Amino acid sequence: MEYSSGEPELILLEIDWDSESKIPQEIEELLAKADQRLQAYWDSWHRRPIEQYVACDFRDVYRAMHAVKSQELPIGNLFCEWGCGFGIVTAMAGKLGWDAVGIEAEEFLVEQARQFLRSENIPAEIWHGNFLPSHAERLAKRQANHASLFHQIPSVYASKSLAVDDFATIFAYPWPGEDYFLKDVFRHYAADQAILVMFLGPYEIEIYRKQRHCV
Ligand SMILES: C[S@@+](CC[C@H](N)C(=O)[O-])C[C@H]1O[C@@H](n2cnc3c(N)ncnc32)[C@H](O)[C@@H]1O
Repeated sequence: MEYSSGEPELILLEIDWDSESKIPQEIEELLAKADQRLQAYWDSWHRRPIEQYVACDFRDVYRAMHAVKSQELPIGNLFCEWGCGFGIVTAMAGKLGWDAVGIEAEEFLVEQARQFLRSENIPAEIWHGNFLPSHAERLAKRQANHASLFHQIPSVYASKSLAVDDFATIFAYPWPGEDYFLKDVFRHYAADQAILVMFLGPYEIEIYRKQRHCV
């Protein structure tokens, strides 16, 4: 196959993740503990409000991730959650057998996510920093008010000697309206054939594969 020098594309994969699998008991138990941790946070939210934290539907995301993994769609085993919050999706990725990393800008959430992984004995990592690669903000063009651009914290990859294109699968739950920006960041920086799983709202999960332009 020959590749042109044109822009890579994101191919939307038609995957029936919804009927893919039942949630295993082990994951239900993990999510019950996650729910307790989240409830404790919401109960005292006024003391430590983090405007950007909203949780995805963990069960739907588990089904989608299970579909991606069981259909062997990723080209490698490194998984990254962009903006991992309490690290629940990163934890599920670890349970599904990925080498999982969650990246989070908010220090409190980083600590919570690390505690959660430790308490569940899940060997995934949480990195404190910016999931956007350096200079990715230029892809936002004139719309510079995206939530993910708000964090004045350096891009994390250089300090870990890894880059976005080392990850075969990336999960993101973008703030409403910034899915196009994050897709552009993925299209620009991810590896050829990498998978992007995006939670966009209840029952709305999109799964893409990056593809260099073929001629
Ligand atoms: C909508 S929440 C999603 C949390 C989690 N991924 C989930 O699905 O439950 C977005 C998270 O991304 C974090 N975040 C946003 N922009 C970021 C950035 N540029 N670098 C690191 N974390 C970021 C926020 O602090 C927040 O915790």
